Amino acid sequence: MTTLLHIDASARPGRSGIDPHGSHSRRLSARFVEQWQKVRPGDRILYRDVGQHPPHPVSGEWIHAAFTKPEAREPWMHDVLAESDALVDELLEADVIVAGVPMYNFGVPAGFKAYIDNIVRVGRTFGFDRSRQGLPYWPMLTEMHKRLVVLSARGDYGYAPGERMAHTNHVEPHICTVFGYLGIDDVHGIAVEYDEFGDERLQASLAQAEQDIDALVMAWAKNLKEDLVDA
Ligand SMILES: Cc1cc2nc3c(=O)[nH]c(=O)nc-3n(C[C@H](O)[C@H](O)[C@H](O)COP(=O)(O)O)c2cc1C
Repeated sequence: MTTLLHIDASARPGRSGIDPHGSHSRRLSARFVEQWQKVRPGDRILYRDVGQHPPHPVSGEWIHAAFTKPEAREPWMHDVLAESDALVDELLEADVIVAGVPMYNFGVPAGFKAYIDNIVRVGRTFGFDRSRQGLPYWPMLTEMHKRLVVLSARGDYGYAPGERMAHTNHVEPHICTVFGYLGIDDVHGIAVEYDEFGDERLQASLAQAEQDIDALVMAWAKNLKEDLVDA
């Protein structure tokens, strides 16, 4: 069975098209999951809302605990790391990660940054050893063949690669760097633009994003590793 981890990061609680002032990124992530369930109704869906319930930012105690070897950890260290451990467990279970992540001030929202800081964990998602030949760090999730789709929303337009605002977009590039560091390199991005204009360009962008999501679901749902094993 495939496990899909659905993450939302918008501070806006509702979905556009359904709720007043609703979130486009939540609309897109819900669309992906709904389409997925149509094609693969038996799959398991995990849900994490870091927009409404942001993880705690990492603290000095968290860093001390995370960089203490597990066998040397004191009870308070396990307590401090409990939330991070739960987020890592969930990520490890996921085959497909569907992340609705809007652009806030050219980067990811604070709740999603806190999520990232909690899942980049030495000894769990990346390895680190100063005595190692070459680089002292390595990704730990590479062999798990996870896939990630980033479903973003922006007020302005022109943030796609090669476009006029691309150099200011620190959402997808940041997410690709971080998840690539952990060994998740199969990353796809789909975004809605023109939210702040609210005109027909927004509607066209939403329609295009939903079409792209439907196509991606069909492509991924048919081409999972378990299907290749079954074939
Ligand atoms: C705090 C904040 C910062 C924002 N910063 C940017 C920005 O840097 N660039 C941009 O194009 N839009 C920006 N926007 C607009 C949002 O990206 C846009 O409203 C998007 O639709 C929000 O995602 P959501 O619809 O999923 O809530 C910002 C919105 C907020 C609330």
